[in-house]
Amino acid sequence: MYLRYAHMFLMEKKVVLITGCSSGIGLGLAVLLASDTCQRFKVYATMRDLSKKERLLECVRNCHVDTFEILQMDVTDQHSVLATIEKIKEQRVDVLVCNAGVGLMGPLECHTYETMKNIFDVNLFGTISTIQAFLPGMKQRKTGRIIISSSVGGLQGIPFNDVYCASKFAVEGLCESLAIVLQHFNIHVSLIECGPVSTNFMNNLHTWDPSDGCLQCVDSDTRSLYAQYLQHCKTIFQDVAQDTDEILQMYLEAIEAPLPSLRYFTTQFFMPLTKLKLSCAGGSEYVQAMHKFVFSGTKTEEHQ
Ligand SMILES: NC(=O)c1ccc[n+]([C@@H]2O[C@H](COP(=O)([O-])OP(=O)(O)OC[C@H]3O[C@@H](n4cnc5c(N)ncnc54)[C@H](OP(=O)(O)O)[C@@H]3O)[C@@H](O)[C@H]2O)c1
Repeated sequence: MYLRYAHMFLMEKKVVLITGCSSGIGLGLAVLLASDTCQRFKVYATMRDLSKKERLLECVRNCHVDTFEILQMDVTDQHSVLATIEKIKEQRVDVLVCNAGVGLMGPLECHTYETMKNIFDVNLFGTISTIQAFLPGMKQRKTGRIIISSSVGGLQGIPFNDVYCASKFAVEGLCESLAIVLQHFNIHVSLIECGPVSTNFMNNLHTWDPSDGCLQCVDSDTRSLYAQYLQHCKTIFQDVAQDTDEILQMYLEAIEAPLPSLRYFTTQFFMPLTKLKLSCAGGSEYVQAMHKFVFSGTKTEEHQ
């Protein structure tokens, strides 16, 4: 009986640090790993605003104290990122999950420079700063995993998500490039390509209502297309949004697989469009198909 459980205490825990754990995917992943029955993980769940920690604390109420800690970390603040490293008791992070992210939706003309810059500050530069901070330790130890909450919007353009997609495309380029060199250091980079997930993401994103005053500066055709897009978005979320629990299995796979993939797709739903984009290098076929899909409700051949 004692022998059966002995390995739990003898085995060194994998130290996992996750950004953006106040809600959604980050919170779910922190809870999943902290409540692992074999206590294989020590989770550092970070969030920028510790006043939001109650929900997470409630979810991990029954977890062992050794498996879990909450730390403050704002990915846009380099001091906060560097200060976090000092607080890691084990002085190492085996698995870094860059999950913090924000969305932005609406006609491009509506976005202020500050709003767009914030999207890049969190989604791209926040990811870069976090990786930069933890990479030297991983390189020194010649082992590590970096897992990124990316998006289908990091692989293909989505109407009225121009700036969000631009930030996630940049993250894809960053990680694909890094992955090549990091092979030498036995460090694996994995991008989790999420489609719509039932989190607060849609409520938290910066968006504009078609009746909003800001949209008055936009021409009526764009306003009407945006209204159509919002309707499409609502339908897509209703029809294909995944539960957080469902997609967390992909994160677990990226953490546990002996040789993790660069990309994990949480849903097959957008695959026909992704494949179309990749197979027709000119790009026009993708633009036409996406336009039809969103604005005339026409599915691609594979979707039908
Ligand atoms: N849900 C989806 O449909 C979907 C689809 C594709 C990809 N994703 C990606 O999945 C990731 C997680 O999103 P989610 O769905 O879980 O949405 P969410 O519930 O809104 O979570 C986003 C998290 O990021 C945090 N965050 C924002 N700015 C931050 C900063 N400067 N420093 C540290 N943390 C910050 C938020 O903290 P606060 O509470 O303090 O704002 C929150 O904890 C994002 O990268 C998103 O792009 C989501």
